[in-house]
Amino acid sequence: MHENCSNSGWTAARGEKWRGQLARMEAMLAPVDEPLIRALRLDAPCGIAEVGCGGGGTSVEILRRAPAGSVVHGFDISPAMIEVARGRGTAPGEVAFDIADMERAVPPSGMYERLASRFGVMFFADPPAAFRNLLRWLVPAGRFAFAVWGRPSDNPWMSIVRETVSGIVDIPPSDPDAPGPFRYGDASRLLHLLDEAGYRDLEVSDWRGMLPIGGELPAEEAAEFALASFSNFAELLLEAGDLALRDARALLTQRLSPYQQDGFVRMDARVHIVTGAAASREAVQHADGD
Ligand SMILES: C[S@@+](CC[C@H](N)C(=O)[O-])C[C@H]1O[C@@H](n2cnc3c(N)ncnc32)[C@H](O)[C@@H]1O
Repeated sequence: MHENCSNSGWTAARGEKWRGQLARMEAMLAPVDEPLIRALRLDAPCGIAEVGCGGGGTSVEILRRAPAGSVVHGFDISPAMIEVARGRGTAPGEVAFDIADMERAVPPSGMYERLASRFGVMFFADPPAAFRNLLRWLVPAGRFAFAVWGRPSDNPWMSIVRETVSGIVDIPPSDPDAPGPFRYGDASRLLHLLDEAGYRDLEVSDWRGMLPIGGELPAEEAAEFALASFSNFAELLLEAGDLALRDARALLTQRLSPYQQDGFVRMDARVHIVTGAAASREAVQHADGD
């Protein structure tokens, strides 16, 4: 969940970092799968592509909840993520994983009835071109559902960590236009891009819930996980010396302790579930003057 990084970071250090914390990241983000998959309206067997599938947890969950006969195909720009996703040992033919830069790639084997993404559409270098490209992946009237983070002020799991670290070292201000997790905190920015790209029936519904930080971790371990895996906080602290990292751990543990219940830290989150569809065949024919 780095801020202000270019898309390509996912194929290098950023991807490696995510992969190193994959089990904890997936455990933390799992509560988002239910509202995301519900928004896909999987009412009949179909082909579903996932954009920026990471280690593949959501793809597998989509298949589990989809009507029998459905096929899920996860795509990610990071070879390291796809390697992990392929290692999940899922049944071939039902879930497949492939490397693709979804900003530019064409669907390798035909279009899909559904397009899904859990936090994978905020990192495109050229969002207008990327969302136009994704339209090529959907059959006419095919539906999509994208989960993106709400504003930082509604996501204390991140803002508290950021505040704590910024009390110890300088953190560069985040640029809301740059690729990053909170780029579409204001959902109207994403709706505008999707509308301009040609999607229809656009809607946003917000999911608010509690996320277990790093899975089921007590405050001290949750603090360690958050510093190691959110943004580039660990790197900034290490540049300032071992003492800075030790102070941040102690302070963050203190700040996360009130959120610990039944032995683990859970914090509020707000996620925009943005849905819509490709234009129907009739609408496309009408626009073409047929
Ligand atoms: C925040 S992670 C989310 C991973 C996964 N969806 C999850 O929720 O666990 C963002 C993912 O998007 C992928 N990604 C970023 N830009 C991409 C692109 N242009 N094409 C495909 N995947 C991309 C990254 O490699 C990374 O795996």
